[in-house]
Amino acid sequence: MASSSRDSHGTQSGSITQPMQSLTAKQKYIEDYDFPYCDESGKYEKVSKIGQGTFGEVFKAREKKSNNKFVAMKKVLMDNEKEGFPITALREIRILQLLKHENVVNLIEICRTKATQNNRYRSTFYLVFDFCDHDLAGLLSNMNVKFSLGEIKKVMQQLLNGLYYIHSNKILHRDMKAANVLITKNGVLKLADFGLARAFSITKGKQANRYTNRVVTLWYRPPELLLGDRNYGPAVDMWGAGCIMAEMWTRSPIMQGNSEQQQLIFISQLCGSFTTEVWPDVENLDLYSKMELPMNYTRKVKERLRHYVKDTQGCDLLDKLLQLDPKSRIDADTALNHDFFWSDPMPTDLSKMLSQHTTSMFEYLAPSRRSGQMMRQHQQQIAVNQVQTKQQENSYQDRVY
Ligand SMILES: Nc1ncnc2c1ncn2[C@@H]1O[C@H](COP(=O)(O)OP(=O)(O)O)[C@@H](O)[C@H]1O
Ligand SMILES: [Mg+2]
Repeated sequence: MASSSRDSHGTQSGSITQPMQSLTAKQKYIEDYDFPYCDESGKYEKVSKIGQGTFGEVFKAREKKSNNKFVAMKKVLMDNEKEGFPITALREIRILQLLKHENVVNLIEICRTKATQNNRYRSTFYLVFDFCDHDLAGLLSNMNVKFSLGEIKKVMQQLLNGLYYIHSNKILHRDMKAANVLITKNGVLKLADFGLARAFSITKGKQANRYTNRVVTLWYRPPELLLGDRNYGPAVDMWGAGCIMAEMWTRSPIMQGNSEQQQLIFISQLCGSFTTEVWPDVENLDLYSKMELPMNYTRKVKERLRHYVKDTQGCDLLDKLLQLDPKSRIDADTALNHDFFWSDPMPTDLSKMLSQHTTSMFEYLAPSRRSGQMMRQHQQQIAVNQVQTKQQENSYQDRVY
């Protein structure tokens, strides 16, 4: 790859003050080299920026050859790389190459800019995906986008289908959140952003896994990770699925902690205290005795979400996804068999509703959903009852929006 040849010859250390010099044979070789499996990014034309994640920018682009085929190009951030191509991007690519499913974003190819003297022989690499018109965070932040109960069922059914598929392939997503869920204009949902994903193994009587627990965006992070578990499994993604499901009605994230400690308190306020009664081996987790864990909270998931969800089956499924003990949390397969998906109204195709919205909606382009205006507008729309008004007033204590 261009970067490693470049590194071994030290051309990258040249500063801007380096005098222009004629190409050495090596540099010319790199410039002219035809990478057989890595096309030049010039085959696409950037249209607009649609994302700015932790690891780089994402652009909407048009394929020049076909002119009406759109892709999303995710730039591989190389700034801090001394060792050539970043291992984290390699991991993401390997996982995406393995996963091919209707409800997982499709990686088309990896592209590169030509290595030239202008970029000091450092190519920029892009992951190129099929373009999806919206992400769920963008859709939820727009109050003109209204999901019926049947449409919410369709979103959740596809999300769980995607999770069922990746978990069956022994992959953990580890960054479930609304911004990482894409939806095409035809209403097909795709799980995206495998930047934190990894393969997992099930330990039966063998030595426990020691995965990092510094994964998953704080607001969607399950209690076992917040308590320091390093031998976790697919249940971490199911918690995120529960948070996203609730958000389909509340329209903003349900537990917005500012710190890991505060996140644990919000979780307890909604799901009850971390007792051995509901979670037998919780005491063995590394941070159990180090965090401040309130001991007298009762579980209020159904009671508090009922005002938004207004569907008994929906509340029941949410209750099963938001179980504190990962061993009691419902898995994707069982969730797909839940009556929520098999009772009237049945899951409804999203394409008709989406056809009313012709502009793309992405988190990057949307106003913050952190709380405030958006939620207040929403709450006015949904005939706020007394209990909710009270919750709003005590919003620090009671953070289920
Ligand atoms: N295939 C795609 N089609 C449309 N938008 C996308 C696509 N992939 C990513 N995006 C947008 O870019 C954002 C950032 O991409 P993501 O893969 O989540 O990277 P990061 O690791 O930086 O969060 C997403 O939240 C989404 O809005
Ligand atoms: Mg992301």
